[in-house]
Amino acid sequence: MLRSLHPISALYTFFYRQLYTRLAWAYDGVSWLVSLGRWDGWRRVALGFVSGADVLEVGFGTGELLSEMASRGMAVTGLEPSAAMQRITARKLGVRGQDVPRVQGFAQALPFADATFDTVLSTFPAGFATDPATHAEFARILRPGGWLVIVDVALCSDNPLLRLLYSIAFPPKPGATAKFRQALDGSGLRIAGRIVGQGAVRVVVTLGEKVASDARVA
Ligand SMILES: C[S@@+](CC[C@H](N)C(=O)[O-])C[C@H]1O[C@@H](n2cnc3c(N)ncnc32)[C@H](O)[C@@H]1O
Repeated sequence: MLRSLHPISALYTFFYRQLYTRLAWAYDGVSWLVSLGRWDGWRRVALGFVSGADVLEVGFGTGELLSEMASRGMAVTGLEPSAAMQRITARKLGVRGQDVPRVQGFAQALPFADATFDTVLSTFPAGFATDPATHAEFARILRPGGWLVIVDVALCSDNPLLRLLYSIAFPPKPGATAKFRQALDGSGLRIAGRIVGQGAVRVVVTLGEKVASDARVA
């Protein structure tokens, strides 16, 4: 069943690209809809894994988590390549009276010096998460002892109806999990995983620790 949907994954990829650019105004509504209202909660799981003072959010989309982190007094910086997402976020933060440093750029070429952040987080990252260049950059800008936090969701059920519905909302990307693991493994970060929540759809948190060089020797 899932295999037969693969040919339309190109169409989904096109749609999602539009959603990050010219249809960015619809992003919050679409993510609410495909998650049946759970997107914000899933995204917020990342906050339980933040450590240290300086946080970078990569691919912040419409800026909800940036805003949430700012409202908690966290020192957060955001990076996002889409001009449309940047505009929506700027408007949102302005309305809320928040000022959060943001840069336009790509995960694969982060415009930050080595060892700048204590936590780098990304929720529902796009294709950049399967690119080894992304994880090399994450490892570079993390301070020793810093953490990478990546949040996604997974279906934990064999129910065929649920599997069909899930594959419509979250189209299968053949080989993506293996590519993600490979890209991570090459980063030099120490990788761990956590599953959060109960029920059919659970939050998958991938953690990568930048081990201090003297700790590696010990
Ligand atoms: C599925 S959205 C997730 C947005 C937000 N983090 C959330 O949880 O709703 C993926 C985001 O990654 C951004 N993106 C796409 N390519 C990127 C890249 N190479 N580097 C950084 N961000 C990228 C997109 O513009 C989009 O805003």
